[in-house]
Amino acid sequence: MRLGQFAGDFFRDIGNFFRAGAVVGVDIGTSSVKLAELGKKKDEPVLLNYGMLESKEYLVHPNRAIQTSSLKISERETAALLTSLVKEVKPKTKIALAAIPSYAAFMTVIDMPFISKEETANAVRFQAPQYVPLPLEEVALDWIKVDEYETPAREHYQRIMLIAIPEVTIRAYKTIFRIAGLNLAALEIDGLAIARALFRKTDAPTLVVDLGAEATDMFVVAKGMMQYTGQTDYGGIYLTQAIARSLGITSMRAEALKRRRGLLRGGAESELSTLTLPYLDVILQEVSHVRDVYERRFGTKVEGVMLIGAAANLAGVERYFSKETGLPSVAPSPFRAVRYDLTLEPFIGELSRELPVALGIAERYFE
Ligand SMILES: Nc1ncnc2c1ncn2[C@@H]1O[C@H](COP(=O)(O)OP(=O)(O)OP(=O)(O)O)[C@@H](O)[C@H]1O
Ligand SMILES: [Mg+2]
Repeated sequence: MRLGQFAGDFFRDIGNFFRAGAVVGVDIGTSSVKLAELGKKKDEPVLLNYGMLESKEYLVHPNRAIQTSSLKISERETAALLTSLVKEVKPKTKIALAAIPSYAAFMTVIDMPFISKEETANAVRFQAPQYVPLPLEEVALDWIKVDEYETPAREHYQRIMLIAIPEVTIRAYKTIFRIAGLNLAALEIDGLAIARALFRKTDAPTLVVDLGAEATDMFVVAKGMMQYTGQTDYGGIYLTQAIARSLGITSMRAEALKRRRGLLRGGAESELSTLTLPYLDVILQEVSHVRDVYERRFGTKVEGVMLIGAAANLAGVERYFSKETGLPSVAPSPFRAVRYDLTLEPFIGELSRELPVALGIAERYFE
């Protein structure tokens, strides 16, 4: 165990890099690799380039997802995808920052008295073995303060999120980036990137649901901070498989049908919803569980739900989640502080759902 190795010392490696005018943010998911290159013009971040590559393989062989929630990452396939993506996008810089998906890490929130940073670090190290299911030598451990409050007895308390990332995962990322010809300057948990890309301190507590291919990650963001997280092993691929099985068609055709029709009502289309809604309901159950635990634990109400991830492109899904949770739907707007070429305007809605993680991690470089 090296405390703060990846988000602390490892992150400080940035200091050793010549601060070029641009940086590449990379988001490796269960089925895709997404990349955003940011530069700075007149002190404002500018999107220079972006790209995403999907692994079609996972559709045919779901168990060959490039990254599964069981904390493994297929180095060879991911390196191949990232290499092709870099060839295609041709970023101007080699400096890269990457987001680690929450399901590849262990995260817990601990309540403790408000003490100095050094004392908090010691307390975290002392308590970590209770929460981390791996030997501490095999993880990089870090923590962030996510909240402060007064107890009924008027004591000053803090909430600390403990984050442990398996060393094997960090090594895999380093290898993948080396093969793709990028200099990996730092790693960070995706939830931190999401909070940076999509929220300001004054935004109301919001439940962010990242609908991916084989996993759905949930984050409660309040006061601009990722305060609480949860995961489920369900994602868009289950909808595709349900359609394929029931209609007796290939996964490829089912995928195309899903993207074209979504949850729209009426005629043959409502049949599609009947097939896919049960899977969305499983995800919704988990969403409601995360919300309940957060509200009880933090004594704060969630005031909105925000859907991101490519599976959030499913037509009608935002409305369905809003109706089922009884929460207003909040649109993700990672471009409110990032300038982009006007020719991208027609795609901004989709990119706002697909790129927040890659954008958020890249933005860290300019902080
Ligand atoms: N237009 C669309 N309508 C419905 N679903 C879509 C659409 N476009 C993509 N998807 C679904 O989005 C999923 C992939 O989402 P995403 O690219 O966010 O996943 P990922 O980042 O690779 O995975 P994860 O975040 O789970 O690690 C696939 O299941 C795909 O079917
Ligand atoms: Mg993702």
